[in-house]
Amino acid sequence: MLKLAPSLLAADFKNLVRDVSLAEQAGAHYLHLDVMDGAFVNNISFGVPVIKSLRGASKLVFDAHLMVNAPERYIEAFAEAGADIINVHAEACADLAGAFKKIRALGGSPAVTIKPGTDISSIFGALPGADMVLIMSVEPGFGGQKLMPETLKKAERLAEHITKNGLKTEIEMDGGIYLENAREVISAGVNIIVAGSSVFGAGDIGQAVKSFYKIFDEFEKSKGGAHG
Ligand code: DX5
Ligand code: ZN
Repeated sequence: MLKLAPSLLAADFKNLVRDVSLAEQAGAHYLHLDVMDGAFVNNISFGVPVIKSLRGASKLVFDAHLMVNAPERYIEAFAEAGADIINVHAEACADLAGAFKKIRALGGSPAVTIKPGTDISSIFGALPGADMVLIMSVEPGFGGQKLMPETLKKAERLAEHITKNGLKTEIEMDGGIYLENAREVISAGVNIIVAGSSVFGAGDIGQAVKSFYKIFDEFEKSKGGAHG
């Protein structure tokens, strides 16, 4: 199933609940939460208290993207704050299998994230333990960047690997995704699209969400048509 994960980073921080509600009412499935520590990436965003507060205001699946060094230190805190999916960066985590176990033991869904320069095959070994792979299509740290087209090839390779090995891993992509290139992204095998600027940065948040889902519907229909 194709899903949209609007990224809070582009929301109006003095109106977070309003913006999240607009995305939720329009049918978004996830809320993508970009946590940055100023060390793993050159930016600081928000953390546990913001997620905890929003948890009381939304039923969306909370998709926490931890751009922090040694993320295993904070798994418990984010799970308790209400994160449903916890993404740890392969480049920041020394023991992925251990982190996944910890996330699952706390009732969360483990996911592994890779930067644009990280080879997709480097995480194949860790896959059976994760529910999702998040492929960064920009260098993590900032919203509003341009999607790096070569990252689409990684999604294609991962999708092939998943099919070949009978896995159920979901594929999420994050960075520079707009209505204009969304079809290309899902054609590469991605089933969860993170969208910051193109949703919370849009004039009409609800309309932006609906426009993404219209593209998803059309894609599903065209696929159904092609294969009978
Ligand atoms: C970047 C973040 C993204 C960001 C995406 O480090 O991981 O989630 O919010 O923003 P856009 O959609 O504007 O590229
Ligand atoms: Zn992100």
